[in-house]
This record gives sequence, structure tokens and C-alpha cells, in this order.
Amino acid sequence: MDRHISLPSDRLPRAWYNLQGDLPKPLPPYRHPGTGEPLTPDDLAPLFPMELIKQEVSQERWIDIPEPVREKLGIWRPTPLVRARFLEEALGTPARIYYKNESVSPAGSHKPNSAIAQAYFNAAEGIRSLSTETGAGQWGSSLAFACAHFEVACEVFMVRISYDQKPYRRTLMQTWGATVHASPSPETEAGRKVLAENPDSTGSLGMAISEAVEVAAGDPKTHYALGSVLNHVCLHQSVIGLEAKEQLASVGEEADVVIGCAGGGSNFAGIAAPFVADRLEGKSIRFLAVEPSACPTLTRGRYAYDYGDLVGIAPLTPMLTLGHSFVPAGIHAGGLRYHGMSPLVSALCQEGIVEAAAYDQGSVFDAALLFSRTEGVLPAPESAHAIKAAIDEAHRCTREEKSECIVFNLSGHGHFDLTAYQRYLAGDLVDAELPEEDLARQLDSLPESSAIDA
Ligand SMILES: Cc1ncc(COP(=O)(O)O)c(C=O)c1O
Repeated sequence: MDRHISLPSDRLPRAWYNLQGDLPKPLPPYRHPGTGEPLTPDDLAPLFPMELIKQEVSQERWIDIPEPVREKLGIWRPTPLVRARFLEEALGTPARIYYKNESVSPAGSHKPNSAIAQAYFNAAEGIRSLSTETGAGQWGSSLAFACAHFEVACEVFMVRISYDQKPYRRTLMQTWGATVHASPSPETEAGRKVLAENPDSTGSLGMAISEAVEVAAGDPKTHYALGSVLNHVCLHQSVIGLEAKEQLASVGEEADVVIGCAGGGSNFAGIAAPFVADRLEGKSIRFLAVEPSACPTLTRGRYAYDYGDLVGIAPLTPMLTLGHSFVPAGIHAGGLRYHGMSPLVSALCQEGIVEAAAYDQGSVFDAALLFSRTEGVLPAPESAHAIKAAIDEAHRCTREEKSECIVFNLSGHGHFDLTAYQRYLAGDLVDAELPEEDLARQLDSLPESSAIDA
């Protein structure tokens, strides 16, 4: 049997799948950060183009992918689905393990799937400049790449710790034409305030979002782009799961377990949503979202309204959250250091459709090493969380003598994460757990009346 299950280029999906259209109950609305009232399209118009605002609340199951977006996605899509036979052999498992290889994109991850769409819809409405944040640098690179294709300028606020750990990600963004600032930065009021209190701040995604939103809100010609969390981002990522389903079907397989790491939730939603549709129709498929134990939003967070950013200028979002002022420890999976989670993924967890698991950094890098030595691809530390969970599921199959089909999303490669691998190999990785009292203090910072109506 082939290891690589590819799809011909004309099988690149023609429409995105919108899970919102199939949910048993609608997602709670976003609320205005100042008034607490449900958000209107006009509230979002200074930040996003109207097409994306419509997608954010759409209940249509299918939304056509514009041809210019398909054309650009075709630079690297459809991506391969790979049977991880060498990993299976090393584990001695009866399970069949497949991974969807999103690392083959120009930026090296799933993020360009949404970056291309966002740059296109902004350009189509006459926007000539986008501001954004980036954690691991993957989203910033992806938006820089996408903006270059649609002649849109790109300004990136990069979380300080990643800025320092990954100088070449910065260079990649600059190569594609973006301007990059370390966040917190002196460029914005939000950044200056944090720097005044703590000049050595390592930053956080919540902080970088505050800076990027501030820039867009202050300039009518600039919009803001978010690389995860929001419904329209999860929608754009559905190409991952749509292709994977077709690839599995082409070799007569059906998924028993679908796994993805979860930072803001978009790559997980992307691989999972088309399979969740089958589960809602009665198929028995399990879903596993995986996070670092240093930033345990899914496993220890509270389901509540919280700000999407540190300062509280982004909308109140119904989600699992650790509190918007939470600054996670400086683990190497920078893309998983976010205090909140996509409303869609949060709701799926609340409904018991999605299970969550949290792993410490050391065990995640052990899994990454085994994967790279068997399958050859050096995974991003974020993606290695999904690998660790897939390995644990395979061990369960061995114990239970079951030959299940395990599918995980390899959301990115780790070629810009070699400092992290160097530290791991030298035995210098430090693990960080979140003490209960620290979490309680963070949750105290939730806004008043944060409860979500059942
Ligand atoms: C390689 C990689 N995987 C996963 C993630 C997390 O993605 P999401 O926010 O879509 O959950 C990131 C975020 O930067 C990433 O870079």
C-alpha cells in the first residue's frame, strides 16, 4: 500500500465546510468589550472586511471558495495524507496511523490556508494594509506570504519570546515584505504600558493582539487579521479535514480517532469539523484536542465570556479561558501559548464531542524525536503535541488489541525551532506546570457577568 495518499489538484475543495450550520445549538454571540451588548457587524467593520464578518456568523453549511483563493491554495494544496508505517512499526501497534501533512505549505504550517483567504477578502474590499500578531511566527509568516500575493502591506507584532528564539522566522516575514516588531513594543499605547510595568516582559499572544488591534482601529485604511480562534479562520481551515476524508475514503479507511493540537483552535477545527459532521449523524468517531500543560485552556480553563486580548479592546468571546491576563511560561510551542480557545472548539468540548489532553514539554519533545527518527519530518513543537497523543492512542490500541484508524494533523514542521531541539538534546528544557493558586488568580480577572447562558 502507498505511504503517500495524494489527491489530484482538481480535488482541492471548491467550498469550505461550516460546522456552525450543523451544530445542535448556535454558538453564543460575541459581546462588545465596552457595553457587553451582542456585537453587531458595524462594530467589527473597522477591523474586518464585510465578507469575513458574514462568514463569522454564517449558518450556511457550505461557503464557496473564490477562484483566486483556490488558485493560490493550489501552490501547495492538496496536501498529502501519509500512513505513518515506520512509526507504527517502532511502536509495535496494531493501530493504523495517518497524518495530514500541512507542513508542506510555503510558510511551513496550516496557517496560510486562512492567510490567503483573509488577504484576498481584504484586498477585494480595497484594504491596502493589515496588522496582526504572531506567536510562533507561523501566522505572521503566512500572512506576510499571503499579503505579498495580493499587494497588501503587512505589519506583524511578534511575541517577544519567539522574536528572540526564532530570528529566522522574522527574516522570513521580512523577505515576504512584512514589518516586524517584538511585542510588547514601543509602537502602541498597549505595548508602552506593559513595557513601563515590566521592561523584560516575554510577551503573550493576548498582548500582541492588543497591539495589532490598536494599530488597525487607529487607521481606516488598515484592517486587522487574526490567525486562529474566530469562526471564519476555522472555516478556512476546513480544507484540511475535507481533503483528509476524501483521501481516507480513497484507500477504504474511516477514522476512529481524529487528533489535533489546539492553540487558538483553528487547525484542530480544520481537521476535525468535517468528521464532526459524521459524528453528529451517528458515526462513532472520537476527537482529541491536545494542549501544553503549561497553558491548559481546555483541561483547566473556565467556559465564560472573556476578552480575546490582554488590554480588553477585543470582543468578549464565549470560550474556554485561563483569564485574559494570563501570561504562559516560555515553553517552545509558542503557537499554543494563548489564554483562550475558539468558541467553536470550546462549545464542542462543553458538549462532550471533543475530549482534551494536556502534556508536559518533555514528553512532547520525546514524541517529536521518535516521529522525526521514524517518519523523517521534524515536527513543529506545537504539532508534536498531536503526535504525542497519537502515540498514546496507539499504545492504548496495543493494550486493547484493537486495530483502530488514528488520524492526526501534522500542523507544521520545526525547521525554525532548532533552538528548541538543541536545548532538548542538551537536556536543558525546563518544564512548567501551572499552580492551582496562580490559575485561580487569573480566573478572578474575568470580566463581570462573564457567565454564558446555557
Ligand atoms: C505549527 C503550529 N501548529 C499549531 C498551531 C496552533 O494553531 P491553532 O491556533 O490553529 O490552534 C500553531 C500556531 O501558531 C502553529 O504554528
